[in-house]
Amino acid sequence: MPVIAVTHPLVRHKIGLLREAAISNKQFRELTHELACLLTCEATADLPMQAATIACWSGPVQIEQLAGRKITVMPILRAGLGMLEGVLGLIPTAQVSVIGLARNHATLQPECYCEKLVDHLDERIALIIDPMLATAGSMIAAIDVLKAQGCTDVRALVLVAAPEGIAALEAAHPDVRCWAAAIDSRLDEVGYIIPGLGDAGDKIFGTV
Ligand code: URA
Repeated sequence: MPVIAVTHPLVRHKIGLLREAAISNKQFRELTHELACLLTCEATADLPMQAATIACWSGPVQIEQLAGRKITVMPILRAGLGMLEGVLGLIPTAQVSVIGLARNHATLQPECYCEKLVDHLDERIALIIDPMLATAGSMIAAIDVLKAQGCTDVRALVLVAAPEGIAALEAAHPDVRCWAAAIDSRLDEVGYIIPGLGDAGDKIFGTV
């Protein structure tokens, strides 16, 4: 089941607030940040742990620490940037790989116009962030790029997913899990998610 609907009450409450047509850019940005934090908790719930002994005030004590692979966060430009600080707030040591994708009007396929990846992707867990999983074209292309670099544990965090995007993602990358704050009804004729949020990038950056 690659797309996982996150049903935590805080997530359900905040995604509802985000749908308000009259929402300000400030509110939209803040809620996007908070939802990114909550999705990060869900998407990292299975990270491996290891035991360590530290000097506690009362003497040696055994604690648990995160073990294993490092993490890269990959925002898809531009709207994915709105989720970046939320993820980094919880995983401050993660390194950031950036990708920008635009649709080629002749082929209708996403083409990469910006790609700045961190090294050793074959040793990392990748968390791709993009608020809207609509057709999933950009998400699939971003995963293609990571896998081409040897990344074997790719996860995605989105605010809203459309059934059409979920089907496309599952067909292209059945091994990739995607955590969504909401799964909506459908895409409209120009590719917006219904009911959706409108243009998430515009609302985050204030370009409306
Ligand atoms: N991108 C958006 O910002 N909103 C949608 O509904 C679909 C894609």
